[in-house]
This record gives sequence, C-alpha cells and structure tokens, in this order.
Amino acid sequence: MKTLHFFCLSLFLFSLYTPIALSRTCNADDKKVLLQIKASFGNPYILASWQNDTDCCDWYNVECDSNGRIISLTIFDGTLSGEIPAEIANLPYLQMIDLNTLSDLHGSIPDALSKLTNLNFLRLKQNKLTGSIPPSLSKLTKLTFFDVSHNQLTGTIPGSLSNLGNLNALHLDNNELSGAIPDSFGNFGNKQLSLYLSNNQLVGSIPAGFANMHFDDIDLSHNKLSGNAYVLFSSDGTSQTIDISYNMFSYDFSKTTFPSSLTYLDINHNSITGSLPAAMTGLNLQLLNVSYNRLCGQIPVGGKLQSFDSSSYDHNKCLCGSPLPAC
Ligand SMILES: *[C@@H]1O[C@H](CO)[C@@H](O)[C@H](O)[C@H]1NC(C)=O
Ligand SMILES: *[C@@H]1O[C@H](CO)[C@@H](O)[C@H](O)[C@H]1NC(C)=O
Repeated sequence: MKTLHFFCLSLFLFSLYTPIALSRTCNADDKKVLLQIKASFGNPYILASWQNDTDCCDWYNVECDSNGRIISLTIFDGTLSGEIPAEIANLPYLQMIDLNTLSDLHGSIPDALSKLTNLNFLRLKQNKLTGSIPPSLSKLTKLTFFDVSHNQLTGTIPGSLSNLGNLNALHLDNNELSGAIPDSFGNFGNKQLSLYLSNNQLVGSIPAGFANMHFDDIDLSHNKLSGNAYVLFSSDGTSQTIDISYNMFSYDFSKTTFPSSLTYLDINHNSITGSLPAAMTGLNLQLLNVSYNRLCGQIPVGGKLQSFDSSSYDHNKCLCGSPLPAC
C-alpha cells in the first residue's frame, strides 16, 4: 500500500515537473558536439560556461529550441584561437552561426557547413579566414544573411551563391577576392538584396544581368572594375546607396538616369566623363562624391547639389559652378 502511494505520488510529480524539465534539457548529441568544438579551440576562457556537468541549454553563446536542440551559436568580440571546427556541421538544427571579431579564427571556411540546411544567418566577419568561399554554401537556401567580410579570402566569387533565393544581404567585402562579378548575380531570388563587394580585386565589367536587380544598397568600391555602370541606375529603381568609387569605370555620365530613392552616391576616383545630369537636382542626397573623375561642365543648380562642399566635386577635368568656382 505504501509502495503504491509512493508510486502514485511519483507519477504525479513526474507528470507535473518532467515535461518542463525535459524541454529544457539539452540534446545529448548536441552537447557532445559542443564539447568537441570547445576542445578544438583549446578550451578557451570565452567558453568557460560549457561544462559537461551542466545542461548545455544554460550555457552562454548557444541557444536551444523547445526540444533541447542547439539552434544558435554566437561567439564574438573575444579571444578565440583555431579553425572553424568541421564538427559544427553535426549540429543539424542550427539556424544561426555568428563567429565575428575573434582574435585568431583562421583557416578556411569548412565545406561541411553546407550540411546545415536550416541556417538562416551566417556571419564569420572580421576574422583571419583564408582560402576560397565554398561553392557548396549555395545549398543553404534558407539563408537571409551571409557575411564573410573583413577576412583574407581569395579565389573567385562562386556564381552558385545566386541560388540563395532568400538573401537580404550578402557581405563579401574587404577580402582578396579576384576575377569578375559572376553573371548569375543578376538572378538572385530577392531582387532588393543588398550587395557588398568593396575592397577586393575584382575586374571586368558589371554583369548586364544586374538590370534585373533592384539592389537596396550596392557597394562595389575599391576594386578594378571597368566599363560603365548604367545598369545600376534605372529611373524605376529603388536603390538607396550606390558606391562605385575607386575603380576604373570610364563612361559618359551625362546619360545617367536616377532612382528617386537614391540618398548616397559615390563615384569618386574613376575616369568618368561627360557632365552631371540636371535630374540630380531632384534627388534627396545625403552624400555625393564625384571627385577625381574627368567630368566637365556646370554643376546643375538646385536640390541638394550646392549643399555639399567642393571636396565632393574636386579634381575633375572642367567641372565648374557653385560650390566650385564659376564657369
Ligand atoms: C561528459 O559526461 C558524460 C556522462 O557523465 C561522460 O560519458 C562523458 O565522457 C563526458 N564528456 C567529457 C568530454 O568529459
Ligand atoms: C570625396 O572623395 C575624396 C577622395 O576620396 C575625398 O578626399 C573627399 O573628402 C570626399 N568628399 C566627400 C564629401 O565625401
């Protein structure tokens, strides 16, 4: 009788507490993988809360879903040395990886990351990563944010990345990427994606297919791109930022049309010729820089154009009128 009472009481307590307890208990496989990751980084202080005798859903730098599966791994602004462990790919429920601004995260981006098909956020910014961008990352079709900027990545940009149909932002800037911008980049599923390719060693012209795109922000600055940039400027476009500064563009700017949404326009340090179109007076520009080109003629009067100082217009062939000296 006593045993039965105890049994009933146990059952009652079990039903009362266990579901909550279970939902907070980290999956054993995921915990094992996290401890492997910690070991591969040499058990750094930044992961001190990752202790085997505690529930890994309570650890810092990770987040569990209601089933105790790890869905997020975020380690940033700290001392961490080593390569991105391929074991990360054994956390199949991961939706977010953010490893940014770490003291010594080096080596290449593991191909194995392409197994993490639930990922919607991948940021490996501001590290010392080398090697090329694995083309297989195009399998991560749920990604909305992809940032590998400020590393030392080399090789060409994989055209397959245009299969990332849900991307809102692609940051490949501040690396050592070479070759041309892939033609396929005119075919992203999200036409209003923001694209950051600045400070690389990209050559060639802007793909004609960019006419299909309506980049919110596009930054191609500090490369070796040539030809013209007409395709970025359509009057029915929705772009806010267009930065093509510090390249080798050489074309007649007079024929440019402008999206009315444009607030930031930087074309400085190219070999752009022609004059500034009068339509520029209709733009609500917060930044304008056309300096160091081969522009000529009078700066149109009106709108924001006289609100910038001469440094926005300096060093052209024969540009004149306020804020530069009269023609
Ligand atoms: C963690 O604890 C489990 C169970 O006590 C044990 O089997 C395992 O070897 C431990 N792992 C590590 C990395 O210490
Ligand atoms: C325009 O660019 C030139 C060259 O990089 C720079 O010296 C100048 O300060 C810039 N002016 C503005 C307003 O951005």
